[in-house]
Amino acid sequence: MICITGDTHGFNDIDKIALKKTLASLTENDYLLITGDFGGIWDGGTHDEDILDYYSRKPYTTLFADGNHENFYLLNSFPVEQWNGGKIHRVTDKVFHLMRGQIFNIENMSIFTFGGALSIDKAYRTLGESWWPEEEPSEEECMKAMENLEKHDFIVDYIVTHAAPESIVRNEINAAHKLLCLDCCAEKFLDKVLERVVYRRWYCGHYHFDMNIPNHRFSVLYQHVVEMRSGERVK
Ligand SMILES: [Fe+2]
Repeated sequence: MICITGDTHGFNDIDKIALKKTLASLTENDYLLITGDFGGIWDGGTHDEDILDYYSRKPYTTLFADGNHENFYLLNSFPVEQWNGGKIHRVTDKVFHLMRGQIFNIENMSIFTFGGALSIDKAYRTLGESWWPEEEPSEEECMKAMENLEKHDFIVDYIVTHAAPESIVRNEINAAHKLLCLDCCAEKFLDKVLERVVYRRWYCGHYHFDMNIPNHRFSVLYQHVVEMRSGERVK
């Protein structure tokens, strides 16, 4: 089983995990997937140790796409490994970062991952301490992602990203939540993915609310924890 949820921001938004009975019953064959802003690779010190220890004590394996609030200098210093068809940073034996533009095969589901987004408050953040330019995808990462999708004939079962495609932000999310539409490279690139890729369901995080967009089979996740295959919320 793969359960998926939105941003956790270190320990700040972890109650949704700690309080779910379904997650407490998961085994070593199961996974928890976080759609970015994992926040466990931040200061390289005891803050991170405590968070990684929390997840490493769980029977299941924790997977995360990167958000915009990760320490990318540290994250990119972990060794890259091939795992279930895609590239990961192995943070611990129980915590893996699913890198951008990869397609994994987990429990017979193909899952395309693409983390990253623009921080709306980056003007108030400090380079290398609370903000890293790698939060936004590079042209090379976007190109590689498209190459990998092409190898799969632009068909995957699930898409897991931090941001949402720009057109969905503009037409669906903004209509309900009145967000500012920003010049976000990740959102713009994901629009190209939306145009070309056939998928069963798309999950993203980043916006800090939960929202279902049925006409795109699209779920914005924050507090909800969902069983990936069914799209049903778990208790
Ligand atoms: Fe966040």
